[in-house]
Amino acid sequence: MSFDGATRWVPADGGMRKVRSALPDCRGCDLYQDAEQVVAGEGPVRARMMLVGETPGDHEDKEGHVFVGPAGRLLDKALAEAGIDRSQVYLTNAVKHFRFERQGKRRIHKTPAVGHIVACHPWLDRELEIVKPKLVVILGAVAARSLLGTGFKVTEHRGEAVELPDGRTAVATVHPSAVVRSQEFRRDFDHFVKDLRAAVDLLP
Ligand code: URA
Ligand code: SF4
Repeated sequence: MSFDGATRWVPADGGMRKVRSALPDCRGCDLYQDAEQVVAGEGPVRARMMLVGETPGDHEDKEGHVFVGPAGRLLDKALAEAGIDRSQVYLTNAVKHFRFERQGKRRIHKTPAVGHIVACHPWLDRELEIVKPKLVVILGAVAARSLLGTGFKVTEHRGEAVELPDGRTAVATVHPSAVVRSQEFRRDFDHFVKDLRAAVDLLP
């Protein structure tokens, strides 16, 4: 699968307002075709912490906001336990359109392909340039692929400080939807919160 990517739709200058108004026009990959809408990042543009998820889910695609479904509710709880105020962080996704497969009336989430992740990366880069977070929290393998390329395994390095290619500090952890689905919920939720606390501790 190969796509031209988002580069030519991403404004080279201006702030977040310009990004948000340009985003719906993006044709950087095929995902815009079937999704209801693009889901932009949210939060203060001067946030010290940026959290990067995977892609909007069914709820996010319908409502047009990040992390408003089951994974979002879990993330809210975990952030609260870690002492992080959701309204103070910038929340976004590595891929801005929902990818799914239809099964009857249901739309089943599909993990974005590497081609989608690479195609959408210029949007995330621009968000990083504008927000300039002191710390990036990588939520799961798709965000890790986007920000750290191949060869980084979340499960081997979760909760540790890692340096992004642009020199910024990041911490990787699992995606909250993996915790939602966990057979050992309490253990995995606590581990997720522990990683978020490690992120707080790394804030300068
Ligand atoms: N999962 C994500 O990665 N992002 C969302 O916005 C919702 C669910
Ligand atoms: Fe553009 Fe990203 Fe949507 Fe693909 S997923 S069309 S690259 S915004």
